[in-house]
Amino acid sequence: MNRNTTEGDKSRFPRHIAIIMDGNGRWAKRRLMPRSFGHRQGMERMIGLLEHAFDLGVDYVTVYALSTENLQRPAEELEGLYQLIRKHFREYMKKICERGVRLRVLGDTSLLPEDVRKIIADSEAESAEYRGRGINVALAYGSRAEIVRAANLAVMRGETVTEESFAKLLYTGGQPDPDLVIRTGKERRISNFLLYQAAYAEFYFSDKMFPEFSDADLDEAIAEYGRRTRRFGKTDEQCREEEKNKKV
Ligand code: IPE
Ligand code: IPE
Ligand code: MG
Repeated sequence: MNRNTTEGDKSRFPRHIAIIMDGNGRWAKRRLMPRSFGHRQGMERMIGLLEHAFDLGVDYVTVYALSTENLQRPAEELEGLYQLIRKHFREYMKKICERGVRLRVLGDTSLLPEDVRKIIADSEAESAEYRGRGINVALAYGSRAEIVRAANLAVMRGETVTEESFAKLLYTGGQPDPDLVIRTGKERRISNFLLYQAAYAEFYFSDKMFPEFSDADLDEAIAEYGRRTRRFGKTDEQCREEEKNKKV
């Protein structure tokens, strides 16, 4: 299934998918391996899923790679994550962005080591000319911090905001809201992720640990999304009427 073969109208296919990539540590532990091994496998899986999602016709994919809260983890684990970025981020992102996808990093990158920040900034610059499709990598990201930052931007500019103009001040400014938020790793929580943007997203929870979340699992999440009715506060009858009018 992809965007063009989806039965019925295209609104049943998600334009923006966001993924909370959870479970790397537990996946490794079950294999009696260090957590860093789980993060390495998780990174490989992330690239595979991104390629698959763009092949299917998704326009935006946001991946939650490191939260502001994760910065409290042991220095050794964080250093392992930064090493992965140093070694692979630029090359892997280039591979995906070459399809005409723009990279944006969401988060307070000033909290990251200087050399890591530079790698991220260089990767973003390399894809800066692309429009219409995007990968967002949330790194040192916290949704509350993002909202507070946006509020302060508005105050500094002396602006009174609307829902739309406020959304433009978030890291995701200018992008469509996520339609589908997937969380792997068996937890059912949002962990400070896209609180403003996901106000009307559909949620899909998988018990699989992130390194074992396959392309077929993503297909299943998208199929499940297609079976849901997004009512946006209206009644079923109103929604059916709107669908009918769209078709004529
Ligand atoms: C998610 O996997 C990746 C990051 C937060 C960096 P975890 O590291 O949270 O894995 P678990 O939840 O301990 O299994
Ligand atoms: C959420 O995972 C953040 C990422 C996937 C990067 P965590 O594993 O850190 O979430 P909590 O803290 O257990 O909710
Ligand atoms: Mg976790």
